Amino acid sequence: MGLNWHRWVVSAFLLVAWALILDTGEICFCMGGKTSDFLRNDYLSLDMPIDSDTFRVPPGYNAPQQVHITQGDHVGKGVIISWISPHEPGSSTVIYWAENSEFKWQAHGFFLTYKYFNYTSGYIHHCTVHNLEFDTKYYYEVGIGNTTRQFWFKTPPPVGPDVPYTFGLIGDLGQTYNSNRTLTHYEQSPAKGQTILYVGDLSYADDYPLHDNIRWDTWGRFTERIAAYQPWIWTAGNHEIDFAPQLGETRPFKPYTARYHVPYKASDSTSPLWYSIKRASAYIIVMSSYSALGKYTPQYKWLEKELPKVNRTETPWLIVLMHSPIYNSYVTHYMEGETVRVMYEKWFVEYKVDVVFAGHVHAYERSVSSKFLIILTLQLLYTKDEYSLHLQDLCALIVVSFILYIVSMIFTLNFGLRY
Ligand SMILES: *[C@@H]1O[C@H](CO)[C@@H](O)[C@H](O)[C@H]1NC(C)=O
Ligand SMILES: *[C@@H]1O[C@H](CO)[C@@H](O)[C@H](O)[C@H]1NC(C)=O
Ligand SMILES: *[C@@H]1O[C@H](CO)[C@@H](O)[C@H](O)[C@H]1NC(C)=O
Ligand SMILES: *[C@@H]1O[C@H](CO)[C@@H](O)[C@H](O)[C@H]1NC(C)=O
Ligand SMILES: [Fe+2]
Repeated sequence: MGLNWHRWVVSAFLLVAWALILDTGEICFCMGGKTSDFLRNDYLSLDMPIDSDTFRVPPGYNAPQQVHITQGDHVGKGVIISWISPHEPGSSTVIYWAENSEFKWQAHGFFLTYKYFNYTSGYIHHCTVHNLEFDTKYYYEVGIGNTTRQFWFKTPPPVGPDVPYTFGLIGDLGQTYNSNRTLTHYEQSPAKGQTILYVGDLSYADDYPLHDNIRWDTWGRFTERIAAYQPWIWTAGNHEIDFAPQLGETRPFKPYTARYHVPYKASDSTSPLWYSIKRASAYIIVMSSYSALGKYTPQYKWLEKELPKVNRTETPWLIVLMHSPIYNSYVTHYMEGETVRVMYEKWFVEYKVDVVFAGHVHAYERSVSSKFLIILTLQLLYTKDEYSLHLQDLCALIVVSFILYIVSMIFTLNFGLRY
């Protein structure tokens, strides 16, 4: 690197900026606004016991349980409906109909089972429903022939630039009392999320002795109250790996991939662990932090072809989901996302990814490209009532930010706040 000196210059400016910011005491860089009044309890929460109301088995012979849906094609006209029959295979058929229609359609899926050490799963059904109308409420029934249960979902509006849509964002949910509070909070949120972007770590069953897969079932029943009614866009986390050679379990992601199907073939992916979808005005790319991602690997080659395909006129929002964050200043999992950052940060900048959502680190943090520093500074100006800010500090901040901005323009540096 011949241009190392400019890094020093920029670092010096950053330092000055930080010093000024720290000097004012109450100001931080996270000025994206206040998103919620919700505050989680500070203490670690215990897992809900196995006989909790949240894990209740639905009544009736062979009643479908753990019902969940996700997008089933690339544009949102398809839905994958999944559920588990506990007693016998039963039927893999889904009956569905549009809200204002008498006509009932049928779609036929399939079921599978898997074993994990001495655990044998129930009959896991997956059925993809295709060619739905956009922006339409559909009812659907599963468990045909035995105990039938009815649910509903709403398809998204057609893909396009001016299509408002509300995504919820959840990760690392687990099955503690706090997990239950998280779902309740989402249900009661006035923003009314229409689809959940799920950034990995689902059940945490692997924290139990022998990776007790019964905890995958309890998690499926726990999340059904939302996941049966709106799609969750799945991302694999470290708790999905379930690699346990001591138990003879050497196929990574076995329970996760058996239970949670995603439309990866629709985006020419060869693995359910990385894929993309379009939904409303967003193009969503899902990556796997725990699969090979170096040069020439399948994930690398897929992403290399995928990014140029995104048409920002059609989907102005480009969102990437992954489990491990590429920037993290918290002590836990510090720098675990570094391999992904080294490989892909350059592409994220080049293709102007709007936002990368990640989970894994249980401490909320967001960062923004330093090119936005000046914008943040201006934002400070407008929120000065809330934050005691001295005028001279503000002026200095603006000047420093402006110089920084010019410097970053000159060198077209796309450095993050912590490069
Ligand atoms: C699996 O093995 C464990 C430990 O040996 C035992 O406690 C558990 O009951 C077994 N489960 C099944 C389904 O056999
Ligand atoms: C449950 O459903 C299956 C498949 O539809 C059927 O063959 C079976 O007879 C049913 N069992 C009972 C007890 O209704
Ligand atoms: C979970 O939350 C719901 C409210 O959304 C409540 O009815 C239920 O009792 C809670 N269960 C547990 C085990 O916390
Ligand atoms: C991108 O999307 C716009 C709007 O849908 C469309 O008019 C245009 O043809 C697309 N461009 C390409 C290269 O496909
Ligand atoms: Fe994690």
